[in-house]
Amino acid sequence: MSNSSSLAQPIKLRSGSTLINRVCKSAMNETIATGEGRVVREFEVLYRAWAEGGSGLLVTGNVMVDKRHANEPLAVAVEDKRDLLLLRLWANAAKSQGGQIWAQLNHPGKQSPKFLNEQPLAPSAVPLASDMFIPPRELTECEILDIIERFATTASILQEAGFDGVQLHGAHGYLISQFLSPNHNKREDQWGGSLESRMRFVVTIYKTIREKLGNEFGVGIKLNSSDFQKGGFTQEESMEVCKALDELGIDLIEISGGSWENPVNRRGDQKESTKKREAYFLEFAEQLKQNVEAPIMVTGGFRSQKAMEEAIDSGAVDIIGLARPLVVDPELPNKMFSSKGNSSSVKPISTGIKKIDDMAIMEISWYSDQIRRISEGKRPKTKVRGIFSVINVLYNFWKRGQTVKRVRA
Ligand SMILES: Cc1cc2nc3c(=O)[nH]c(=O)nc-3n(C[C@H](O)[C@H](O)[C@H](O)COP(=O)(O)O)c2cc1C
Repeated sequence: MSNSSSLAQPIKLRSGSTLINRVCKSAMNETIATGEGRVVREFEVLYRAWAEGGSGLLVTGNVMVDKRHANEPLAVAVEDKRDLLLLRLWANAAKSQGGQIWAQLNHPGKQSPKFLNEQPLAPSAVPLASDMFIPPRELTECEILDIIERFATTASILQEAGFDGVQLHGAHGYLISQFLSPNHNKREDQWGGSLESRMRFVVTIYKTIREKLGNEFGVGIKLNSSDFQKGGFTQEESMEVCKALDELGIDLIEISGGSWENPVNRRGDQKESTKKREAYFLEFAEQLKQNVEAPIMVTGGFRSQKAMEEAIDSGAVDIIGLARPLVVDPELPNKMFSSKGNSSSVKPISTGIKKIDDMAIMEISWYSDQIRRISEGKRPKTKVRGIFSVINVLYNFWKRGQTVKRVRA
């Protein structure tokens, strides 16, 4: 296998370990855990397939730090050691080809749908503009400290299970991003107000994990370049948060954007310049590169090997994050390491009916359905129509005996 592609070059992280190449499978909720968020054997099969595809880093779908608060059904929750053995099997499979596995840690805050959560929590009692979510209750200081501790506890269990690192989910409108956004964080105590106070939550999580797990465990963050919302978290603020975490020694900064209310992370900003270079957040990454030492990863929109290599060669990006392309073709990284001119065949998932196509559930279901297939040892079935995936995913929820637990705080 010729390794002339810049994507095949290794990169050393600040915590001391080396990633064997520049391709990362970005986080995708696998939607295959049990209704209680328990780990199952299929994670081993799924991550072995991705490992054999060649990615140097596999970031898991978001793992909940509190099982009472999930962003989606069938997401993993790790609060204690009851699934340690299954987590070990998962980590070993993911590392079987020399790559690393990091778990993405998340608390959804108010972005926890009402069929899962009757009382979501948030920095402030600001509701989301959707009937899908019950208006949140404001977190007490004691609850904030508990959540911070939970992030560190989950990280330490995953470290014990053999995971190489964790990624804090600071993007897409979940709790960390709610704290960062002046639209969602109206607190007047030490957790709200100035940017320094709004970022205290994520900075304290980072420090608590480091204190507990030391400097040799990978810790990264997925952060929005901005919320793309009026009055929300801006690019300038995102830059400041990155600088603060960089000074503290963070290993990897992954740039994404948007939220449930504005899902630019899967659509891009639709600008012509963005379409040309494929990746949605490259301009921000270029500016960020001038300001931080930590390796930068950009996820969202990369489809052709050419655009990925150009992004690495330009020096603006250190690691390419891929999500949907690795569902359609888990082998894509190996293909890119051994030949030129590869491209992902990812296409928009369409029914032809605009109203349905605009619903995030269609696309997410289509990919979830393919991920489930891979986890059952099958090939992705890319010709299946979106509407059938929604039916399949709903059937899968039912089949897994999804007991939807409502939470009363
Ligand atoms: C099925 C599915 C599940 C996803 N789950 C997560 C997740 O758990 N955490 C996260 O940060 N992003 C998640 N994403 C977003 C992806 O990580 C990524 O940012 C987005 O798909 C854009 O990258 P792409 O163009 O390479 O697909 C998910 C995307 C899809 C399609």
